[in-house]
This record gives sequence, structure tokens and C-alpha cells, in this order.
Amino acid sequence: MRIIRELNETDWDAFVAIVANAYPGIKIITAADRQRYRQRLEMMAADPTTRMVGVVENGRLLGGMRLFDFTMTLHTASVLAGGVGGVAVDLAYKKQKVARDMIQFFLRHYRERGAAITVLYPFRPDFYRKMGFGYGTKMSQYRVKPVNLPKGARTHIAFLSASDKKAMQACYGRFAQKTHGMMSRPDFDWDAVFAEPGVQVVGYKRDGQIQAYLIFSFQPGPAGHFLNNEILVRELVYETQGALAELLAFLHTQADQIDCLIFNTQDEDFHFLLHDPRQDGNLMLPRVLYHQSNTQGVGLMYRVIDVPGLFVALADHDFGGQTFRLKLTLQDTFLPEYAGSWVIGFENGRARLLTPTEHDIAITLNVAEFSSLVMGSVSFRQLVAYSLASISDAAQVTAVDRLFHTVYKPVCMTTF
Ligand SMILES: CC(C)(COP(=O)(O)OP(=O)(O)OC[C@H]1O[C@@H](n2cnc3c(N)ncnc32)[C@H](O)[C@@H]1OP(=O)(O)O)[C@@H](O)C(=O)NCCC(=O)NCCS
Repeated sequence: MRIIRELNETDWDAFVAIVANAYPGIKIITAADRQRYRQRLEMMAADPTTRMVGVVENGRLLGGMRLFDFTMTLHTASVLAGGVGGVAVDLAYKKQKVARDMIQFFLRHYRERGAAITVLYPFRPDFYRKMGFGYGTKMSQYRVKPVNLPKGARTHIAFLSASDKKAMQACYGRFAQKTHGMMSRPDFDWDAVFAEPGVQVVGYKRDGQIQAYLIFSFQPGPAGHFLNNEILVRELVYETQGALAELLAFLHTQADQIDCLIFNTQDEDFHFLLHDPRQDGNLMLPRVLYHQSNTQGVGLMYRVIDVPGLFVALADHDFGGQTFRLKLTLQDTFLPEYAGSWVIGFENGRARLLTPTEHDIAITLNVAEFSSLVMGSVSFRQLVAYSLASISDAAQVTAVDRLFHTVYKPVCMTTF
């Protein structure tokens, strides 16, 4: 019989063996590597927000995953969001629905615990879209010459050390609370910032606070010789205009030593910041007069697991000031018990679930696209244009669009 249960130290060796084969890139090869990974699992399992769960059949572990309790800023609300990572299946048991069973367990587990939304980083977006996860904001990668950043004062800039961890967490926490999509981060990840060799942190300290910080590391440049180096900006968090300006000025002054700064950002306006927004190499997009400015990727995906719970959590959120009754029909082939129809009454933007009643507008869509819509990652108008959503009255597309419109798409800096 197949069961899914929390793993404990008696499972670590089997789990490490599965992970080693599922993620050869992690390079768990020698006994010392296995021991190191085991210790990492123990450290994660000891964190109250993280647990390892596996599928066991006839006493044998077939696969495992890590579950994370995150706190997410969902528009203006702070909600529990379930995260899954490290999904791994024994090479000998692939294509036997082990992953399917684990993801269904993950979704039900968080629904039982009162979460309305879940998140994951897909190894393949189409694999998880089929399971009802919708795309989030794309990640842009910019390769920037330091001289293309603004110059300025650096009066409050200082290197940070492990003793600044709490103040840095506080800065992140304040930023996360104000930023749609941002999530909490397990404590062991914060410790890792200062423990990882080669990683450095520069902060902006003012009035007894850290109001911005930059986590970075050096990496060899494409020329490969020892004087050709790049800076990889791993994280940039700022609370004020002045704090950002000083951190950028700090990076600007590295121009004599560094050819290129690499930024991974979900800031869609980032090119406005740069003196010259063109990416290295002066590349043009074929056949159009557009200069390549960055490359982009699809990553974090979202899945709503409780429609009524979602609107309860967002009871204080303003859904675009709209007033009408919306019948929402969701398709969910992966978890059919989560599919259904609901009528939500919006009054001056405030949502309230109504007992089945008449409605003004009806929409139908898949849970994956609904999840992206709720997050503000896609507009309703485009979902309709792509035939990924339907509406009872085409003249009302704008009204539904306004419900879910967000000024900024969701941002997430938590990796898991
Ligand atoms: C990727 C990996 C986890 C897949 O594991 P797996 O156990 O072989 O996958 P499953 O057999 O459960 O396949 C998923 C099943 O869910 C089913 N499924 C997906 N959406 C469905 C839906 N809406 N309704 C019904 N079934 C659905 C699929 O049909 C699929 O079954 P099929 O292949 O028979 O069609 C595994 O290959 C692995 O460990 N890879 C290496 C590590 C890795 O990349 N992990 C992912 C990290 S995010």
C-alpha cells in the first residue's frame, strides 16, 4: 500500500540517495557529500516552518519533497502560503504517479491548514501548469556596465556581517510587508547568507536601521583571465529613494575593476534606471528597431487551493472599486473536488461570498489561469484574448479586468 507521511531521521539515507539521482547537478557523490546533505536535511527539518514528506510503498521510499510554510503579502493581506520544493522520485519508480500523489498531498495539506494559495518553482512550467499552477511575474536578467548606473554619495554605505542579520531581516520584513507577492524566508536561509564563501553584503545604515542592502558575489567574466570579473547581485532590497541611490553609487564606483553587473529583477521598469539600457554586445532584435536590454525567464508559479478562503483572506482588499455580482466557474482536472462555481458580490471593491444567487457577469477559466489572475500576473483581458477565459458578456471584460488589476505584478525573492 502507498502512504504519504512526514520523513524522519530513519529515512534520511534513502531520501539522500533519491535526491542525489534526481538532482545530479547538486553533486551528492561521495560519502562526505551524502553526510553534508544529510546534515542539511536535519537542519531544515529542525526549522518549524519546514518539513520533509515522502511516498512510501511496501516499506520503500519512492520519492520525497520539502514543504514550506511561508507568509505571503497577497495584495494588502498577510496570508499563509504553502511552498513545495526538492520534488524527487526514485529513478526506478518514475512514471508511476509518485509526483502526482505528492503534489496532491501538498495541496490538500495546505488547504487543511487554512492556506488559500500555494507556490513552487517548476523544473518544467508545462508539467505544473497541467497540475493547475499558473505563471507568476517573469524574471529579467540585466547585464549592466557599472558606468550605466547613477553616480552619487555613499555616506551611509557599510559592509555588513552576521551581527547585522536581525537588522537586515527587519529591513526585508518591512519591504515584504509593503510589496505584493513577497514571502517570508526560513531562518536557515538567512544564516546561509553570511556562511556562504564569497558572498558579501553591503548595507545602507541610517537612524539605527538598515534601510537597504545588497547581497553580491564575484564571478569570472567571459574573457576568463584573472582581471576579468563580474558582480552577481543576488539580492537588492531598498526602502527609500536615498538608500537605493547610495547602493547604486557603490556599484557605479566598481567600474574600474568590474566589466559587468548582473541583476536578476522582477522590476519591469529597471531599464529607466540605466544611463544606457542596451545589453552587452549592442544586439538588436531581429527585424525590429529594438535594442536588446535583458533576457527573461518564467519561474515561480501559483495555485489557488481554496476560492472561498481566498476571498475571506482578501476581505479588506479593494478589488478595483467595482460593484457587481460575479459568478466564477473554475475548472480543476487535477483536483476535481476543488473545481466549482461561486458567486462573489463586489461592493465598492469589497468582496463577499454570496450564497448561490443571481449574478451580473459570469466567467469561466482554469485554476492555473485564475491563480495568475488573482496574483495580478496576467490581465483578464489577455486571458480572454488567448481563449484561456470566457465571459458571459464581452462588453464586461473591462469591469472584470479592473477587479484584478494591480499596479505592480507580484515580486518574490524567496528561493526554495
Ligand atoms: C519530475 C519528476 C518529479 C516526475 O515524477 P514521476 O513520479 O515520474 O511523475 P508522475 O508519474 O507522477 O507524472 C505526473 C503525472 O501527473 C499526471 N497529471 C498531471 N496533471 C494532471 C491532471 N490535471 N489530471 C490528471 N492527472 C494529471 C500526469 O498525467 C502524469 O502522469 P502521466 O505521465 O502518466 O501522464 C521526476 O521525474 C523527477 O524526480 N525528476 C528529477 C527531479 C526533478 O526535476 N524534480 C522536479 C522539481 S520541481
